[in-house]
Amino acid sequence: MRVIITESPAEVATIAADMIADTVRGKGEVSIGLATGSTPIATYKELIARYQAGEISFANTSVYMLDEYIGIDRADENSYYRTIRREFSEQVDIDDSRVHSPNGQASSVAAEAARYEETVRAAGVSLQLLGIGSDGHIGFNEPGSAFDSPTHRVILHPQTVRDNARFFSSIDEVPREAITQGLATIRAAEHPVLLATGESKAPAVAAMVEGPVTAHCPASILQFHPNCTVIVDSAAASQLLDREFYIAAEKQRRARTS
Ligand code: PGA
Repeated sequence: MRVIITESPAEVATIAADMIADTVRGKGEVSIGLATGSTPIATYKELIARYQAGEISFANTSVYMLDEYIGIDRADENSYYRTIRREFSEQVDIDDSRVHSPNGQASSVAAEAARYEETVRAAGVSLQLLGIGSDGHIGFNEPGSAFDSPTHRVILHPQTVRDNARFFSSIDEVPREAITQGLATIRAAEHPVLLATGESKAPAVAAMVEGPVTAHCPASILQFHPNCTVIVDSAAASQLLDREFYIAAEKQRRARTS
């Protein structure tokens, strides 16, 4: 894992935006994987600003979402499909037809999960942006998820329901199930880029980077990925034992490539 520790959450967003810009620039058709949640919002704002300044275009970019709540209308402001369009794709030059997500209202969830798995695999995701749940989830792969799982139906962990209640008017409104890309789907991306900011993420970040690879912390599976980048601010990095080494290694890497 390449672990980049920044001074501030703003710097996390700048570095992530640079990586996304490098991925979509001058490459012809490209598929990127995007995440919802609070953490990537600053990255999306940065990319929107660069688009508005004429520095970047996403006209060649298709977007694949990680997950979607079951039972929520796509038009609902809390659906992830609506969220990514509102927060990002509608504010840049990405056509709605290029925004792909599982349909949380499909009559057969199993058939929808299989369809979405095929769609994502056929697209071949280059950069996959990820957040991490305070319980160590990526996508909605909660503790205990199978490492080899394809896109599937999941029951949300009570911690996730509590964490996400802030987006709804009451905790009772938070859906209890979702369709998510599985850990195998996410691992198939060429370059997973996981972002975490704030002290509340410090235990999950430490478990992911330095803990054993265990289904109890699903994000720890990324230790097996040969090309994974983790970008965290100093608060989210605060429980990493080898913090100083990661900072020094990154400095050296930059000196080598500059
Ligand atoms: P957050 O969510 O960015 O809102 O903290 C992260 C996640 O659950 O993946």
